Amino acid sequence: METELRQLRDEALAALEKIGSSAELEPFRVKYLGRKGGLIAGLMRQLGQVPREDRPRLGQLANTIKKEVQERFEEKKEALLAAPAAAEAGVDRSLPGRYLPFGRLHPVTQVMEEICAIFEGMGFAVAEGPDVETDHYNFEALNIPRHHPARDMHDTFYVTDSILLRTHTSPMQARIMETQEPPLRYIAPGKVYRCDSDITHTPMFHQVEGFLVDRIVSFADLKGVLTSFIHRMFSDDLAVRFRPSFFPFTEPSAEVDIACVICGGAGCRVCKRTGWLEILGAGLIDPAVLTMVGYDPDRYSGFAFGLGVERIAMLKYGIDDIRLYYENDLRFLSQF
Ligand code: FA5
Repeated sequence: METELRQLRDEALAALEKIGSSAELEPFRVKYLGRKGGLIAGLMRQLGQVPREDRPRLGQLANTIKKEVQERFEEKKEALLAAPAAAEAGVDRSLPGRYLPFGRLHPVTQVMEEICAIFEGMGFAVAEGPDVETDHYNFEALNIPRHHPARDMHDTFYVTDSILLRTHTSPMQARIMETQEPPLRYIAPGKVYRCDSDITHTPMFHQVEGFLVDRIVSFADLKGVLTSFIHRMFSDDLAVRFRPSFFPFTEPSAEVDIACVICGGAGCRVCKRTGWLEILGAGLIDPAVLTMVGYDPDRYSGFAFGLGVERIAMLKYGIDDIRLYYENDLRFLSQF
């Protein structure tokens, strides 16, 4: 009985070795490992006829052999299934794979990420806030009460009387200052909405708000941060100008222009023949705004800025119509 068992083991393993396709697996399993008609099961049934004293030893041997054949069979099965039909069906596995077109980031997203990375490098933390905003954060907390003429500067999409689509990312100033104590250094990127459309304006566009609040923050700090940002974003020799302006939430306020990269400053339809393109608004945070969030304006001061991402992307890539970014024409978008 012992010899028979050992012979059957050798025979089964040799037969397993020869198997070259998954189609041969099942016949092997039925022949050797089948519960009813299998050869190993057959021998095990005969154990009842061997002398009683030999039974435990032979029973153990039969079980070990059965387990070994079973394990080797599973290994073979796995190996054949992992290298599937290919070899059997005559598929040439050295052929190059099928081409799957890659998606890519929208140019505005790419520029947004670049802007954020530059400011993060200067130590600004990133915060995000809601697109659907309250009148309070979008206007009131920024020193723009109801009926203030500055509301005309924003062609607002209202949802209800007091809920609107934010017209700028500046509400994030109040939202963050309200919950944290200075020193603060934040940027807040996101979508903003205005009822506005021409070659330099779209109804939805992106801004990156930035602000810093600490002791003794001056306009020189603001100028330094923004000039160094613009030089990193474009080139070290790009002309930049700070032009006096007005925002109810900053005092003094400025708009920052860079030389028009489309016409090199000579004047074209994009820069409206001025040679300059406005890319952001900025200023020192108005003491009234600081007071509204509970800061003491005699103790703290700060600067803030808000830049238009599409504008920067237009200038960076020499695009003369902002609407191209949102027409979803792949011939345009796939160039970036
Ligand atoms: C503001 O939105 C102020 N919140 C910016 C600010 C922040 C000032 C902090 C002071 C302190 P303004 O409306 O100028 O400002 O818009 C900022 C920038 O957004 C503009 O310079 C321009 O680049 C861009 N922008 C404005 N309207 C549009 C539009 N419809 N489409 C595309 N870009 C626009």
